[in-house]
Amino acid sequence: MSREGYIAVVNGPNLNMLGRRQPGIYGTATLDDIVASLRAGFPQLDIRHECRQGEGELVELIQRFGTDPACCGIVLNAAAYTHTSLAVADAVAAVDVPVVEVHLSNIYAREAIRRTSLLSPVCAGCICGFGAAGYALAVRALLQMK
Ligand code: DQA
Repeated sequence: MSREGYIAVVNGPNLNMLGRRQPGIYGTATLDDIVASLRAGFPQLDIRHECRQGEGELVELIQRFGTDPACCGIVLNAAAYTHTSLAVADAVAAVDVPVVEVHLSNIYAREAIRRTSLLSPVCAGCICGFGAAGYALAVRALLQMK
């Protein structure tokens, strides 16, 4: 991956509630904490963050970042849309920029509905179950991609 551009981190619905949202599942770090620690961990990188509630908004962000020549990769936690949104999956498939899927929780160890990801088949890879650390792991994955 070229280190010249920026990395986009895109979070979906209810992730703005991290810190108070089911901390036994998602941990106690807020989204601001996660983004701050990501930037602190990769001071050489330009990390841009967006959090949106709507499916169409996620589609628009993926299209915007995914077609921006300055964007080198996208870290995507589409939250519940992971399991339901063909539109988000189609947006990921439509762009050439690598997209790494992230989940704080291990979605494969949870309810049956969460064990299906429509995004995994179109993403470069998936990191789940490592809590907030998963975002840094996803950035590392992007950095080691050619
Ligand atoms: C999540 C897992 C999803 O199933 C859930 O809907 C979320 C968060 C995670 O990060 O573990 O909102 O993507």
